[in-house]
Amino acid sequence: MCGIVGVTGTQEAASILIEGLKRLEYRGYDSAGIAIQRPHAQYVVKEQGKIKNLEACLDWAQLKGTCGIAHTRWATHGVPNRDNAHPHVAGKIALVHNGIIENYSALKVQLGKKGHVFASETDTEVLVHLIDDLYDGDLVTAVQKALAVVDGAFGIAVTHADEPDLIVGARRGSPLVVGVGDGVNFLASDVAAVMGHTRQVIYLDDGEMVTLRPDGVQVMTISNEEIIKEIQEITWDLGRIQKGGFEHFMLKEIFEQPATIRDAFRGRTLQETGDVKLGGIQLTDWELRNIRRIIILACGTSWHAGLVGEYMLEEYAHIPTEVEYASEFRYRSPIIEPGTLCLVISQSGETIDTLEAMREARRRGAKILGITNVVGSTIARESECGVYIHAGPEIGVASTKAFTSQVTILGLITILLGRRGHLSADRGTQMLRELERIPSLVQQVLDQSEAIHEIAKVYANHHNCLYLGRGVNFPIALEGALKLKEISYIHAEGYPAAEMKHGPIALIDPHMPVVVIATKDGSYEKIVGNVQEVRARHGKIISIVTEGDTEIAALSDHVITIPDTMNFWMPLLSVIPLQLLAYHIAVIRGEDVDQPRNLAKAVTVE
Ligand code: G6P
Repeated sequence: MCGIVGVTGTQEAASILIEGLKRLEYRGYDSAGIAIQRPHAQYVVKEQGKIKNLEACLDWAQLKGTCGIAHTRWATHGVPNRDNAHPHVAGKIALVHNGIIENYSALKVQLGKKGHVFASETDTEVLVHLIDDLYDGDLVTAVQKALAVVDGAFGIAVTHADEPDLIVGARRGSPLVVGVGDGVNFLASDVAAVMGHTRQVIYLDDGEMVTLRPDGVQVMTISNEEIIKEIQEITWDLGRIQKGGFEHFMLKEIFEQPATIRDAFRGRTLQETGDVKLGGIQLTDWELRNIRRIIILACGTSWHAGLVGEYMLEEYAHIPTEVEYASEFRYRSPIIEPGTLCLVISQSGETIDTLEAMREARRRGAKILGITNVVGSTIARESECGVYIHAGPEIGVASTKAFTSQVTILGLITILLGRRGHLSADRGTQMLRELERIPSLVQQVLDQSEAIHEIAKVYANHHNCLYLGRGVNFPIALEGALKLKEISYIHAEGYPAAEMKHGPIALIDPHMPVVVIATKDGSYEKIVGNVQEVRARHGKIISIVTEGDTEIAALSDHVITIPDTMNFWMPLLSVIPLQLLAYHIAVIRGEDVDQPRNLAKAVTVE
């Protein structure tokens, strides 16, 4: 977590850094800070809270300088206050850090004995003191020596007042990208921070470091071996990371879904043969046919997409599939048999638990297929083969469009594998034809945003909410509940509808709204029974039903109708009203929709 940005060039650095920080604010917003280089001194300003708080206390006259580093924080060690904000300073060195220094306590004791005095509770401050302790006139060497004794994860940017146009960066576990400009160079946690200045980037890999000066960048390993890195070109536009007239990024991203779902399958379907081509899957037909088991690794919303994938893959590709929380998988002794394919799903491609679980699965012999959104992210680069979901930058911390794109890709992978097994060409063609219709069906659901807003008004002040679904709509119930708790702070739980009888039914009373996803499928009659059970206990029922439904509609307090489609693709429609419901409730409650408290978009700490 945390976002870091640095620039060294000939223009004033401060405004570039503040603009970059704003694009990284999704990575954390507990505090922010900036350090500008001056000959033999640094000017450092930090403030608790969001970047606008930092901006409010900047003295622009003091900020003149062409080289600097900045940080937006998601707190790990130490409360979110000004003392714990980055940059941290020791002597003439300033440092910003994303990650966790695991052996900081021991290092702090050693450095304390040598006279170092600490002003914060952070692990990061220990690292800057360590570099200062080892500094002997050359910042690069001091950083290398310090990182050799540090355990844990880091993406860092470091400056020294006596080397005023130099930034040293290094990474292990946390993302860092170099922006290569003309007479100016950048370092950041994410390309979004350098967009608008350059499209030429170099992605650093773990164990690498970089020196940036106005006239060039040099990449080497932390153990000082020089390396030649490829410069890559960013192909998307700045417009894709701006709000485009919507009140919030989240709403913009919800409304982008007809386009993003189409982008996920565009050029990848072969309707004639009912087949799919995914360029990034470099496995032969023989290898695809010999996949005996699939393990899906993910966290958060990506994990919910994985659960939808499990239903798809088992039913249509007939391959046993398990979905694992990446954080649990990596710390047990998972059994990987020959013929195991691991699908690693991550919007950011940087979630540390997912990344480490992927590495563990690979060590144990699984084939790895990464499903990511952020091009050039660590999971994308470390996967043997992969598929980009092409959803474009997702800025709202609560994931929406990435989820539907992930589900679309899982559907395509299911068809790909199914066609190498039992799935007939006719059935494949039917599924792909239906997929073509999905973007316009999603639009029909989006058109009901105002009606969903009216329902949101009724429930915005409730304290609890239950979400029920069966079959492929069970993960959608989980995702609906997650969206609500993430952005409106209302306690919400998703449950398989039939499981309600084994506990949650005790909670039902006239104050408990129950969202029931009851689309027409094989378990429809069963869910009618579950709705009756809620109604008998005077719970309030908000149902998501397919067009033409009258039975559940008659039992419900509020009804949201979605168009009919194949059960296979239904999650792409049934999740949309739940995203909108959560969004409108959060807005009515006055919550910070795009940057909900305590959360971050990319969780790069365990
Ligand atoms: C964080 C975000 C969630 C996201 C999860 C997994 O918790 O707030 O929105 O679903 O991380 O992120 P990933 O980038 O791996 O999909």
